[in-house]
Amino acid sequence: MKDNILVVYFTRTGRSEKVALELNKHYKCMVEKINEKEKRKGISGYIKSAWQGIKKSTCTINKAKYNPQNYNITIIITPLWVGNISSPVRTYLQKYSDKINDYGIIVTHNSSSYKAAEDEIKAMLHKEPIFQVEYKKKDIDNNSINVLDILKFSH
Ligand SMILES: Cc1cc2nc3c(=O)[nH]c(=O)nc-3n(C[C@H](O)[C@H](O)[C@H](O)COP(=O)(O)O)c2cc1C
Repeated sequence: MKDNILVVYFTRTGRSEKVALELNKHYKCMVEKINEKEKRKGISGYIKSAWQGIKKSTCTINKAKYNPQNYNITIIITPLWVGNISSPVRTYLQKYSDKINDYGIIVTHNSSSYKAAEDEIKAMLHKEPIFQVEYKKKDIDNNSINVLDILKFSH
């Protein structure tokens, strides 16, 4: 049976979205962008996001369009915020963790350690991911990421 994939992402500056769209280009999947009402643009948006990263805060997000329960695999894409996952992704996981079946993790970042972010997702979902991948901002910007590798299992 072909895997049934849901890609869920939050993006502040477009990199995680680029990864989501790349997956959508190569694989049959539904894509859920996490939307929120908070403003994260500019310096004040950066500082708020950094603070929420440090505090591991949640925030208010809009209701999801797709139910992850209906998908065999949910791929969670988050930017790294001060070593942690972004607060909109944390909020999504808090709301929908009990509906997520198998899952994979993709962390986008500038270059620092992303292990705490992966560990937080695993702890929230109470199980191991079927894959975990990280992409650096510079590789996303240079179009040198290869999403085909990570989804070999879906063929
Ligand atoms: C508030 C904030 C904190 C960040 N902290 C880190 C960090 O600790 N380490 C890192 O490598 N990149 C960090 N970054 C960079 C982003 O993780 C990286 O550029 C990411 O790919 C952006 O994804 P996006 O364009 O989808 O928002 C931070 C960015 C923001 C806005």
